Amino acid sequence: MSATEVSLIYDTVLILDFGSQYSHLITRRVREAGVYCELLPCTQKISELKFKPKGVIFSGSPYSVFAPDAPHVDHAVFDLGVPILGICYGLQEISTILGGEVAACAKREYGHATVHINRHPDHPFIDRLFNGLGDNMIAWMSHGDAVNKIPEGFRVIGYTDNSPFTAIASESRHLFGIQFHPEVTHTPNGAQLLKNFVLEICECKANWTMESFVEKEIERIRAIVGPTGQVVGAVSGGVDSTVAAKLMTEAIGDRFHAILVDNGVMRLNECQTVKKVLKDHLGINLEVVDSSDLFLGKLAGVTDPEKKRKIIGNTFIEVFEAEALKLNEKTASSGNSPIEFLLQGTLYPDVIESISFKGPSATIKSHHNVGGLLENMKLKLIEPLRELFKDEVRSLGKILNIDDELVWRHPFPGPGIAIRVLGEVTPAQVEIARQADHIYIEEIKKAGLYREIAQAYAALLPVRSVGVMGDQRTYEQVIALRAVESSDFMTADWYPMPVDVLKRISNRIINEVKGVNRVVYDVSSKPPATIEWE
Ligand code: XMP
Repeated sequence: MSATEVSLIYDTVLILDFGSQYSHLITRRVREAGVYCELLPCTQKISELKFKPKGVIFSGSPYSVFAPDAPHVDHAVFDLGVPILGICYGLQEISTILGGEVAACAKREYGHATVHINRHPDHPFIDRLFNGLGDNMIAWMSHGDAVNKIPEGFRVIGYTDNSPFTAIASESRHLFGIQFHPEVTHTPNGAQLLKNFVLEICECKANWTMESFVEKEIERIRAIVGPTGQVVGAVSGGVDSTVAAKLMTEAIGDRFHAILVDNGVMRLNECQTVKKVLKDHLGINLEVVDSSDLFLGKLAGVTDPEKKRKIIGNTFIEVFEAEALKLNEKTASSGNSPIEFLLQGTLYPDVIESISFKGPSATIKSHHNVGGLLENMKLKLIEPLRELFKDEVRSLGKILNIDDELVWRHPFPGPGIAIRVLGEVTPAQVEIARQADHIYIEEIKKAGLYREIAQAYAALLPVRSVGVMGDQRTYEQVIALRAVESSDFMTADWYPMPVDVLKRISNRIINEVKGVNRVVYDVSSKPPATIEWE
């Protein structure tokens, strides 16, 4: 569903991003309150908004409102006549625009503070912001500037021992500003405050549920694709592409064609497993294309990680495109229209990254996508998950009866084992990495640890080390085990794997995988390391 279409169906809160690292968390909290919201850059022209928000939230910002390059909002936002909540920089932006004053603090305020709530019987509407929050709340602060004169018509609704204007509001205009960050978990009741803002102040309906999303999305897909339209999409066995494919199947049945390309660098038995789950259990119209020889042939002799990615990405597009064309021929006499749409499992974090006023963040590794396809085949993109966060996709998966095992699967990179076999990728090396990885994941699951680890895999290192087996000297390869905890994969900590589990894994790999005589555990966090070794 496009953002605009969703905002026409659901009461929508507009979040304006001034570049805070926490902006996406505001979005999360509002969605958790059951209210649909959209994050747009603060520079958004209000006259060009495609929907009428029921309320607006200004995020924080790393800038000072006085900085010459500081981001500013279109003042027309105040003419919308809907409640506005400014957070941190947002409060300072509201204050300076409406005639208050902001100045640099003598000392940056950072950390926890107790906010004393200042209710008044004459201002029942603005007091709704603090419904259920008692007289004091612990709040997280991080600011170098502060309001030192509030705009006319505002009153102080919260203060701390250090700062007299921690929370201000205008009863008549329904404008609010708070110096602290309710969106972070360091503010224990912050989620309640944001919920109060969207439900009690903006009076939004809390009807953003996954069940209603599924129903509306199916209707919308049917309307776009029409009664004879056809859609093609790649699946990988990961949660995003599977959920997108299942949703599409619910909407248009076999007029959706899923293609799984075996690139020769997938996990052990992956193709058979994915086929069984998607085709047999989920009823998805799936075609498996074995192109492993083609991919492995092109990878022969290549050791550079970025070259491996490019080869796999380009070959994937080549194979996928050829298959889509074949499908078009095959279905020509079916009475359906030619394939006109391409399904992609893009999620909201990818969308947010490309709309932030700071622009997309720098790419550290080139990620595989099928963008090239569009130019050649003139396919129109359908992205049913583009409004959703990962955990929302998981709830959607559950509603669509997708097994927990698949819904909670660790992410797996498009270039697969090719970037986990360091150095040259040969079929024999892929086999070693595959077997070691299989044992590793099996043991993690047996130990009941799979869900608490964000991602785990085995990499085959391009070194050999000396060992001894029986009376024989060995000179064989090394497996590195990687396991990380992470919520967004942008940063990650290495996972403290219990020693007994490591012992079992190491024993099994060395005994069962021919060609390996040593196993090491990776204890590097991201940054400065990345999750993948290549
Ligand atoms: P890094 O190694 O950059 O990985 O810390 C972050 C997340 O991205 C995955 N990853 C990829 N996924 N194509 C993909 O589809 C790629 O080229 C690629 N490189 C890394 C990685 O597995 C981790 O989840």
